Amino acid sequence: MACHGSKTAWVPRIAQGIDVLIEHALHGFKAMPAKGACGNCSDAEIKAAVDYMVTTDK
Ligand code: HEM
Repeated sequence: MACHGSKTAWVPRIAQGIDVLIEHALHGFKAMPAKGACGNCSDAEIKAAVDYMVTTDK
């Protein structure tokens, strides 16, 4: 959740499918930096972060 805000704002994004979100998180998307600008994060860590973002409401 250090990455992004509430799940509510994510409904349209989640509609694209988790695979698209992971792809965008890994490689960047518009103003979203590749891997959230975390140069030493592994692909698995980024995938875990996206999973967390779409499944956790806060
Ligand atoms: C590990 C940390 C992060 C993860 C896992 C992450 C993941 C994501 C994902 C999955 C999306 C949605 C892409 C889509 O709609 O297809 C997104 C969008 C975005 N992210 Fe991140 N993010 C992270 C960190 C950051 C940081 C640090 C910034 C800013 C410096 C940032 C800026 C943005 C912006 C501006 C968007 C919206 C792009 C748009 O729709 O135009 N993210 N992020």
